Amino acid sequence: MNKIENSFLNKDQFGDDFLWGVSTAAFQIEGAHDADGKGSSIWDVFTSQKGKIKNGHHALTACDFYNSYQNDIDLMKELNIPNFRFSISWTRIMPTGTDSVNQAGIDYYNKIIDSLLASGIEPWITLYHWDLPQSLETKGGWTNRESVSWFSDYVAICAQHFGDRVKNWMVINEPSVFTGAGYFLGIHAPGKKGITNYLKAMHHVTLATTAGAKKVRNLVPEANIGTTFSCTHIEPATQSAKDIEAAKRVDTLLNRTFIEPILGLGYPQADLPVLKKLNNYILEDDLNNLSFDFDFIGLQCYTREVVKSAMLIPYIGAELISAEKRNVISTDMGWEVYPPALYHVLKKFNEYKGIKKIIITENGAAFPDTLSNGKVYDIKRTHYIQDHLEQILKARNDGLNVEGYFVWSLTDNFEWAEGYNARFGLIHVDFETQQRTIKHSGLWFKDFLS
Ligand code: NOJ
Repeated sequence: MNKIENSFLNKDQFGDDFLWGVSTAAFQIEGAHDADGKGSSIWDVFTSQKGKIKNGHHALTACDFYNSYQNDIDLMKELNIPNFRFSISWTRIMPTGTDSVNQAGIDYYNKIIDSLLASGIEPWITLYHWDLPQSLETKGGWTNRESVSWFSDYVAICAQHFGDRVKNWMVINEPSVFTGAGYFLGIHAPGKKGITNYLKAMHHVTLATTAGAKKVRNLVPEANIGTTFSCTHIEPATQSAKDIEAAKRVDTLLNRTFIEPILGLGYPQADLPVLKKLNNYILEDDLNNLSFDFDFIGLQCYTREVVKSAMLIPYIGAELISAEKRNVISTDMGWEVYPPALYHVLKKFNEYKGIKKIIITENGAAFPDTLSNGKVYDIKRTHYIQDHLEQILKARNDGLNVEGYFVWSLTDNFEWAEGYNARFGLIHVDFETQQRTIKHSGLWFKDFLS
């Protein structure tokens, strides 16, 4: 490794207690879609439908983490990664979502947890990373108010089985993304559309976040409990009053709608009037059940968005100007590479009084990697990570609260509607052979963490 490429960054600058890790999600890595009694999830169904995923990709095998987890844990150890974030597949544990528990699913996660601990790697569980049981979707999924109790029961099973060894828990991953893409736009599972589905899902997911967190608190009193939110730095396209107002509405939708009720501030209805329709679904006692005193908040930031007013766009009256149109450097996701976004969102979320601790639970980039002579020279990803770490350092030097950084992701994996073409890993995966190759970024991270 060429030390010069390490820029001026040094792990010690972040302090001894700063948390370093990598993040993954069950559906994106595990494969083994029907192994050992696993039930079907909305993503199993969605990926089997024609035209939903780019190039017809599916996740029947994905990275085969279900079978090759030990190899990937060994690689993590080799890369000096001390914390591993992964999610539990609800249908491995409860194939139909409620009632019966599948012991083989419990055994599987026990093996992962035990193997991590034996390797000196701390497990961080995400309880819900988007793979709702299909049998619950047939009852309306998150649009059904009963989803709150289905979820709490599932959380209780996880807490009872894994809480003796797992300290770190995240309840829900990126609620605004999976409700927006899955229940409003229909481009993610379960493919539902429309404002009514979206608002119902939004409210029930928010209630479930709190209900799930309370369950973990009761059953694992010492747990370190968080939940994760996607966040994006928003800027108006011009300084016109119309664009500034439009940017404010987009900021409300993308950054505030889910976290503010959790922090006890209620839904930000004044700044996004369509949220007033939520009142149709809020029952009397709900306002007392929306907030929870989380030990940490996970923020996941990848880019910024530039917004202009577009009054013909329903509900939001705004449009995002793509990175391509702005002619700026972007990743394979079409997201602008703009490291200061991370500093800006940290500053913004630091303004909330109720957040005890902020951890960046995801950040990373998809670039077109090529494997040549057994090496992947993904220098753009290395720089992306270094540049974002510099922003974190700047934030810490300015006294802002940010106490950890998890790279998305350990290996290339199934990137939802984008399939396998968007590669985010520190480790390259050949999806034909399941061969792993540590990329330049992974070698740099290893060196940095040593
Ligand atoms: C957000 C999601 O949590 C994760 O599943 C996804 O793969 C990454 N960000 C990249 O899009």
